[in-house]
Amino acid sequence: MSETAETRGPVTRRRRTTITSTKQTKRQDAREKPSPCSAKEKAADKVQKHANNNGNVEKEMGKSTQQCHNLQESLLSSASGYSNYRGILNWCVVMLVLSNARLFLENIIKYGILVDPIQVVSLFLKDPYSWPAACLIIVSNVFILAALYIERRLAVGTISETTGLILHLFNLTSLLIFPSASILTVTSITPVGGVLSLGTYTVLFLKLYSYMDSNKWCREIRHAKAKRMTRSYSCPIVAQSNGSAANTNVSYPGNLTHRDMYYFIFAPTLCYQLNFPRSPRIRKRFLIRRLFEMLFLMQLLVGLIQQTPFPLSSLILPLAASSQVPNHLIWLIFFYWFFHSSLNFVAELLQFGDREFYRDWWNSETVTYFWANWNIPVHKWCLRHFYKPMLRKGVNKFLAQTAVFLASAFFHEYLVSVPLKMFRLWAFMGMMAQVPLALFVSRFLNGNYGNAAVWISLIIGQPIAVLMYVHDYYVIHYGRKTEAALI
Ligand SMILES: CC(C)(COP(=O)(O)OP(=O)(O)OC[C@H]1O[C@@H](n2cnc3c(N)ncnc32)[C@H](O)[C@@H]1OP(=O)(O)O)[C@@H](O)C(=O)NCCC(=O)NCCS
Repeated sequence: MSETAETRGPVTRRRRTTITSTKQTKRQDAREKPSPCSAKEKAADKVQKHANNNGNVEKEMGKSTQQCHNLQESLLSSASGYSNYRGILNWCVVMLVLSNARLFLENIIKYGILVDPIQVVSLFLKDPYSWPAACLIIVSNVFILAALYIERRLAVGTISETTGLILHLFNLTSLLIFPSASILTVTSITPVGGVLSLGTYTVLFLKLYSYMDSNKWCREIRHAKAKRMTRSYSCPIVAQSNGSAANTNVSYPGNLTHRDMYYFIFAPTLCYQLNFPRSPRIRKRFLIRRLFEMLFLMQLLVGLIQQTPFPLSSLILPLAASSQVPNHLIWLIFFYWFFHSSLNFVAELLQFGDREFYRDWWNSETVTYFWANWNIPVHKWCLRHFYKPMLRKGVNKFLAQTAVFLASAFFHEYLVSVPLKMFRLWAFMGMMAQVPLALFVSRFLNGNYGNAAVWISLIIGQPIAVLMYVHDYYVIHYGRKTEAALI
C-alpha cells in the first residue's frame, strides 16, 4: 500500500466537491499535507532524480504502474464525502426543460394558442363601468379606521377593556362577513375580482387582529410601569448603526396615528409591532429588478394558466396527471413572483427591513417543516397570535397544531368557495389532510425519503384540489355539453 493511501481513510476524510486524476490528487495531497510526508517525499524525489540520472527510467515506470490503487470509497457512496451534485442538478433542469418543451409542443398542436390578453380583462371585470371588487377594497378603510379609533379610546381609558374587546370582535367579524355577503349577492363581481377583494379583507383581518393584540400587550406593559411613567409618549431615536436613520422611535400610545396604521397596512407583514426594523435607503437597482420580475412573471403566469388544459371529464383523477406538471410549475412561479419579487418590491419601497418572507422549504423533510417555512408572514402570525397563546394556556401541542390547521383550512375554503360561489370543501379537506400526512411522514419517513414525500404531496395533492374546483365550476357554469365536447 502506498504512503498516500495510508494517509487517507475515515480519519483524514474531507468533503470532496470535484474529482481529479490520481496523479493530480496525489500532487494536491502533497501540497495540502506537507508534513510528515514531505520529508519522505523529498527523499523519494531524490531517489527518483538519482534513478533518472542513472537512466533507470524503465524501472521507475514499472514501480508507478504497480501502485495504481488507493484506499478510497466509490464516489456515490455516502462514506466518500462527495457532495458536488451540480452536474446532476443541471441534468435535472435540462430534462425538465426538454420534457416540458415536448408537453408544450403537444399542447400547442392539440389546442392551438389559447393565450388571449383581452380575456384577462374579462377575468377582472364583467362590465367596464362597474368595478365592484375595487369598491369593496376602498370600503375596507372603514374597518381600518374603526380599529384605530377603538385603540385610541382604549389608550385614553374612555372605554373599558371589555368594551374595547367587544368592539374589536364586532369589527373583525364584520371584516369577514361583509365582503363575503357582498360577493355572494353582487352579480357583477367576477371570481378573480372576488378572490382579490376577499384576499385583501382576509389579510386585513389578520393584520387588525395583530394590531389589537399588540396594543393590548403595550397597555399591559404600561400598566405595569404606570407609576414610573411621567415622560412624553415619544422620544427621539438614537442614530442607527448605519448612521443614516432619521426615523423616530415611538412608544405606546404615540403609535396610534393614521401614518403608523397605514404603514402597517401596506407593509409586507401580518404582525404588528411598534417601530419596525427599517432599511437605511431604497436601493433603486434592486427595486427595478424586482419590478421587472413582477411584470414578467405575471405575464408568464397568466399565459401558462390560459394555455394549461384542464381535464373536465368525470374521470378527473387519471386525466389530472396531464396537467400536474404545468400546474406545479405555475405554483412554483407564483411562489417566486409573490414571496420574492412582489413582497421584496413593496418592502424596498417602504424601507421595511425584515425580508424573511420564506425559508428553505424546498429542503423540508417533514410536512410541519414545510408549513413552518414556506409562508413566513402567515406562519409568524399563527405562532404569535394563535399557537403560542394556546400552548401558554396549557393546550396540548398536537391539539394546538390541529387548531392552527383547522383555522388555516377555514380560510383556504373561505377564499376559494365564496368567490366561486360554490361550496365543495376540497380546500378545507386538503388542508386538514396535512395533519395525518405530517404524522405519517414524521413517523415512517426521514431524510431524502421525507423530502420526496413532501414534494410528491405538493406535485400531486395541490393540483388535484385545484382541478376539483375547476371541474365543478365548469360543470356548473357551462353544463355537461362542454364536458362531453372536451373529453
Ligand atoms: C402549527 C404551526 C404553527 C407549528 O409550527 P412549528 O414551528 O412546527 O411549531 P413548534 O412546536 O416547533 O414551536 C414553534 C415555537 O413555539 C415555541 N413553543 C413550543 N412549546 C411552547 C410552549 N409550551 N409555550 C410557549 N412556546 C412554545 C417554540 O419554542 C417555538 O418558538 P420559536 O419559533 O421562537 O423557536 C405551523 O405548522 C404552522 O404555521 N402551520 C400553519 C401554516 C399555514 O397554514 N400556512 C398557510 C400558508 S398558505
